[in-house]
Amino acid sequence: MCGIVGYIGEKNAVEIIMSGLHRLEYRGYDSAGVAVIHNGAMACVKSLGKLVALDAKLEENTLAGRIGIGHTRWATHGAPSERNSHPHFDGPMEIAVVHNGIIENFQELREQLKSEGAEFRSDTDTETIAHLVRKYYTGDLFAAVKRALADVEGAYAIGVIAQDHPDLLVAARHGSPLIVGLGAGEAFIASDVPAIMKYTKDVLYVEDGHVCAITRDGCRVEDLHGNPVAVTPSHVDWDEAAAEKEGYPHFMLKEIHQQPDVIRNTLRGRVEEGSDAVSFPDMNIAEEELEACQKIVIVACGTAWHAGMVGKYLIERFAQVDVELDLSSEYRYRDPAVPPNTIMIPVSQSGETADTLEAIRVAKRKGARVAAIVNVVGSSVARESHGVIYQQAGPEIGVASTKAYTSQCTALALFTIWLAQIRAQMTKDEAQGMIAQLRELPDKMQWILDHQEDIVRCANDPKYRDAQSALYLGRSYNFPSALEGALKLKEISYIHAEGYAAGEMKHGPIALVTEQLPVVCVAVQGDTYEKMVSNIQEIRARNGTVLSIATVGDDRIRAHSDDVLYVPACPEPFSPILVALPVQLLAYYIAANRGCDVDQPRNLAKSVTVE
Ligand code: AGP
Repeated sequence: MCGIVGYIGEKNAVEIIMSGLHRLEYRGYDSAGVAVIHNGAMACVKSLGKLVALDAKLEENTLAGRIGIGHTRWATHGAPSERNSHPHFDGPMEIAVVHNGIIENFQELREQLKSEGAEFRSDTDTETIAHLVRKYYTGDLFAAVKRALADVEGAYAIGVIAQDHPDLLVAARHGSPLIVGLGAGEAFIASDVPAIMKYTKDVLYVEDGHVCAITRDGCRVEDLHGNPVAVTPSHVDWDEAAAEKEGYPHFMLKEIHQQPDVIRNTLRGRVEEGSDAVSFPDMNIAEEELEACQKIVIVACGTAWHAGMVGKYLIERFAQVDVELDLSSEYRYRDPAVPPNTIMIPVSQSGETADTLEAIRVAKRKGARVAAIVNVVGSSVARESHGVIYQQAGPEIGVASTKAYTSQCTALALFTIWLAQIRAQMTKDEAQGMIAQLRELPDKMQWILDHQEDIVRCANDPKYRDAQSALYLGRSYNFPSALEGALKLKEISYIHAEGYAAGEMKHGPIALVTEQLPVVCVAVQGDTYEKMVSNIQEIRARNGTVLSIATVGDDRIRAHSDDVLYVPACPEPFSPILVALPVQLLAYYIAANRGCDVDQPRNLAKSVTVE
């Protein structure tokens, strides 16, 4: 996610901004820049790469000034480059903007502004905001920003300065975090508390739809219609390490809690409000190619492979296209058959996984068209694929993948709806219904996050916390849920755990069942629910310990389970996106209770860039 820092006061703005941006480096970024106003003139320095590169450029191009804005960019629109780094400017370069978020209607705004004479310097959505402010500017910067934002659809946190207003910093928020720091004769803006807490711990958490006029003496807040908003500063008493995690003890727990917004962001800009039309402009695959496609190959590793399995079940069920799912490390070495009209969909959070990269190269050499689902913009997987669906999940810091997984499942569900319509396997009404169901998922995820008491209780229960081994069982769409739950537990708590298709239980794993073996059974409402209940009864008949994951309102399952974790009702095909949360949280709390290094588990790396 991008990082924003702004300053207005009596000190050197660049020093404060750069210090703040360094405190935000943990968020991940690919370029950076800073703009200040000094002696009535705007000045700006940008650089590709890490902040040390910007530091070096600033050594050569010293910027003075007591008001400024700075930014570390995590690319969403437009590849990482100096020209795409923020701040962005209006035509005369007298108004500067930094932005975190996604402007959904930026293409139409860009075309409209171009038709009115605006000349764009970058490929970003952000630059449209700078030109819009210019369009509406008649001497009142605050009014121009409010008017410009009225045209904007999507998520934003912005900072704006203008050459003719050296005593005013404007900020606004809708859907992306932003705070205002209040000091003595100075004020700050930032994406996150760590950036400014060495200067002040008195902050305003900007609310959606609020616009802030910030001066050295304080902050005035209005809504977009100009109505004043009363605000009360908070005093933050975190230490700096805790602040990076927004008060959570670990990045993993923070990222688990980000998932409702992550799903909203994965959907953002792909589906017009109230329509059935899914669009993936970056996928770079013609509808004719999707119509002609005879086979889809999904390759991935680890958690991404589990998401790929969810995708296989969705695509085959709703689009009726043959899907081959393979581990990247296997695909790359087995000289696979790649018939004409094959489309490969690599799935990778980091976009740097060596095996997945090599699998892409093998498939391309054999004539496949490659469209990746990837989280990191401009990553090797994105660059080496013909097209891409960016997850828009923000950087994932915890080594154990959580929000990236549910984001990948959501992207694959969207792709399925798009493909099924192209292949005449789904009507517009059906598509609209499924899209509406996807839109309901974030609130259902939030329900789970607001009802963790049973998960915490189980994680403290020695039956689970002190187990030597665990079995996870699921069927159909939730077979990958069982695999993912087992992977989460084993990789952060070091308890051996195995995920299995529940139908396979009698083909071997049932031999493992004893009282000491906890068996997590995914038994949400769906076509295989009764079969899961039978599996559970077989386990209980052998004194096995059963922890069921079931649908809210299902009291029947309690009679067959030692413990039950509930998720809200949702269509079975989308249930892995909800089931992911209890298995993530169960693994997290057990690992934390066992004193494990949750964010940096032993022997693991966030991205396996070597074989
Ligand atoms: C999952 O929690 C692990 N961190 C690991 O399995 C990961 O999913 C796998 O290495 C794939 O990474 P990628 O999505 O970046 O390609």
